[in-house]
Amino acid sequence: MGQLAGGVAHDFNNLLAIIMNYAEFVAEEVTGEAADDLSRIRDAAERARSLTGQLLLFAKRDPTQVETVDLNSVVRDAEELLSRTIGENIRLVSRVCPGELAVRANRGRLDQILLNLVINARDAMPSGGVVIAETDIAEISEFAGRWARLTVTDTGTGMTPEVRDRLFEPFLTTKPAEQGTGLGLATVYGIVGDAGGHISVESDLGIGTTFRIMLPLVAGVSCGEAGGAEARPPSGHGEHVLVVEDEQYVRDVVARVLGAGGYRATVADEDTLGDLDLDGVELLLADVVLRDEPGPVVAARLRARRPGLAVLYMSGYSDRQIRDQYGIDEETPILHKPFTAAELLTHVGEALAPTPGRRP
Ligand SMILES: Nc1ncnc2c1ncn2[C@@H]1O[C@H](COP(=O)(O)OP(=O)(O)O)[C@@H](O)[C@H]1O
Ligand SMILES: [Mg+2]
Repeated sequence: MGQLAGGVAHDFNNLLAIIMNYAEFVAEEVTGEAADDLSRIRDAAERARSLTGQLLLFAKRDPTQVETVDLNSVVRDAEELLSRTIGENIRLVSRVCPGELAVRANRGRLDQILLNLVINARDAMPSGGVVIAETDIAEISEFAGRWARLTVTDTGTGMTPEVRDRLFEPFLTTKPAEQGTGLGLATVYGIVGDAGGHISVESDLGIGTTFRIMLPLVAGVSCGEAGGAEARPPSGHGEHVLVVEDEQYVRDVVARVLGAGGYRATVADEDTLGDLDLDGVELLLADVVLRDEPGPVVAARLRARRPGLAVLYMSGYSDRQIRDQYGIDEETPILHKPFTAAELLTHVGEALAPTPGRRP
């Protein structure tokens, strides 16, 4: 079942990439009612994307698996489910920093943290209120380094100092037996500890509560680093990118986005690759699962012909699955399908000029 789900999600992601990207192209040219219609298409494609994301999650549902996860996407993807869970008199506001916030963790467990904190916030607001889920990068004197921070704030009852002091103890609950187990925060505490993180809480009776979770930030494209607030993707200056992908539509979309983004793109499939002149090519953008040979094999062959060639993979399969199966190390970036034009340009920019520390 898992493999089947993973396979379907993969093919589906290819199609979604096409839908999303062509919708983006058209969006640049239409106005008025047609633009509204189009934004519905794009919304639906986004929803479908999160659905395939869930399928992929199911395909590799092993809670011990640790991968590089974008904390922002955890918040974004959970938003709809959470809003429905907390009921109508509580408003959920989510504010994620622009860009990605990469952490090493198990995705399902990050979902669990967010869910536990938001449900607790709901329980603390029996007559309604607001819960805010935010992300940012924290650099604080207490702990060295840079941290991906998730902050969940509510306007609820708050808690007494006695409860706050024992908050993370298993079975500590102030709720009626049928409602509380006292295991939620103990679980959160365990997950955060396993991930090398920290958790803190501030609470004022009658005013509300704030939980802060900090997880070690993985170097890479992060909030505010992809060109500032509401990051515009970096644009190229004629750098030559070779796109190797069997699916013609995906190939064409990618080439078009790259062209519009200031790059020079050459497309190839496995058949046309051998005769290609690699002179001046700076980056290989290759699908991992090609028809005849794995992307990494193709990459190695091309690198032998052109040393120093930067490589960026793309794939519709889940990160863990693809890294394990094809022996791709954690330092080598993989761009996940379906991607938006902005995501593509951001990853290409990063692959051509990696931030210091990202690669050995
Ligand atoms: N956001 C919050 N506001 C007020 N009290 C809270 C909040 N989150 C947790 N608590 C307190 O901490 C206790 C333990 O929480 P938790 O471990 O999730 O167990 P449970 O929710 O099953 O009671 C809760 O019973 C409650 O008293
Ligand atoms: Mg709870």
